[in-house]
Amino acid sequence: MSLLIKNGTVVTSEDEVKADVYVEGETIKAIGENLDVKADEVIDAKGKFILPGGVDQHVHFSFTYKGSKVRGFETSNAALVGGTTTLIEFVNQEPGKGLIESIDSYRKTDVDGIAMTDYCFHSVMTDPRDEVIMEIPKLAEAGYPTMKLFMAYKGMFFHADDDAILKALLKGKDAGITIMVHAENADMIDVLIKDLVKEGKTEPYYHAVSRPPVVEAEATRRAIYLAELADAPLYVVHVSCKEALEEIKEAFNCGQRIYGETCTHYLVLDKEDLAKPDFEGAKYVCSPALRTKEHREALWEAVEKKWLNAISSDHCGFDFKEQKHMGRGEGKSFADIPNGAPGLQNRLNVLWTYGVLEGKLTRSRLVDLFATTPAKINGLSNKGRLQVGFDADIVIFDPDFEGVISVDRNLEQVDYTPYEGFRQKGRAETVFLRGNKVVDKGEYIGKKGEGRFVPGKPFGSCYQEQ
Ligand code: URP
Ligand code: ZN
Ligand code: ZN
Repeated sequence: MSLLIKNGTVVTSEDEVKADVYVEGETIKAIGENLDVKADEVIDAKGKFILPGGVDQHVHFSFTYKGSKVRGFETSNAALVGGTTTLIEFVNQEPGKGLIESIDSYRKTDVDGIAMTDYCFHSVMTDPRDEVIMEIPKLAEAGYPTMKLFMAYKGMFFHADDDAILKALLKGKDAGITIMVHAENADMIDVLIKDLVKEGKTEPYYHAVSRPPVVEAEATRRAIYLAELADAPLYVVHVSCKEALEEIKEAFNCGQRIYGETCTHYLVLDKEDLAKPDFEGAKYVCSPALRTKEHREALWEAVEKKWLNAISSDHCGFDFKEQKHMGRGEGKSFADIPNGAPGLQNRLNVLWTYGVLEGKLTRSRLVDLFATTPAKINGLSNKGRLQVGFDADIVIFDPDFEGVISVDRNLEQVDYTPYEGFRQKGRAETVFLRGNKVVDKGEYIGKKGEGRFVPGKPFGSCYQEQ
């Protein structure tokens, strides 16, 4: 099958050009003005923007919090209607199992033959015994060249101490494994939670009180010191506050290879959302916690000025009615509410409407944060870019569409969206995954299992850029 998209404006991370895009099979074969080629399907994209399919490097389809599990890859079509064609999922090392074994077995039962997007995985080390540390370099050959450690979540099996992080940094660097951290000080949070609960402060709002910016800043700085000691690059996921951002900026300016992302919700949602009545605040319980306008402004500036280099969703599909309510009732508190919020479908919608249209991001910068740099960080060499030879993951974006975000139009299969009622201008009208049309007029038309595993290559961009 061949495809010609004519008369659109092609947006890359560097510039915008009026050009046609020609695809043969799964690959982009030509980009240029007035291409003189015949194709099986020709689309007139006049007035539309042509963007690369998004790469969301931070999603959870297997995360379990106090026994409650999120929606899985059977909901990945939500990403496609939101213009995202590649997902990277965090897979916890299971107790008693190896790192690769844990990902491989999860893939077999829950991903291969189910996913509608292309996909890759980050390993999450939960048990840093010697033989597991020895396994870290092997992640490179398996196509899983990134690993995250959770500095937060004291008492949970996936919490990591500093020795685990240091060992991962030391062992991973020669094999080009990019080490990522969820940076929050678990002990500080634990003390605050216990004090708040003792005082009867159990409502969802106190989630934010138990995780002030200083807990994130401290852990970020500590992780940076560990990376300095190991002389290894480090990637800080879901940066939410200006204090943590300052630590990353300062370390980078001192010559360390320290990088970070933020997430959609930290750019547009507010700490006060946690105070919504009737327990609705629970919908906004995620970690790090939501912040204030001052932090949002710092984050918008950071993504625009390249101090942070990706915007992910941190999608975490817990239902409000059943799962978020685990934190309500006699003897329960905010600390029992599963952490995380859904956001897979609305990353592009929100970033376009509240970023590009409000002058906070250029379209090229959006493409870089949404697709191009996340692909590079994770060693996905054929993704995230409209370029000859790359996978034909293409979004035809209609800037004139107007709507309102609502759970009623959501494919995440979660009973709420934290962006309910948000104005939406523009949408992914048509989406191609490796040349296959998977979204038409904003509707999902693809097939279950059509997504494919894309192995990441080691020595991603955190190893290369300075
Ligand atoms: O609250 C969040 N972010 N839940 C998902 C797990 C994590 O910490 O990333
Ligand atoms: Zn996290
Ligand atoms: Zn996360």
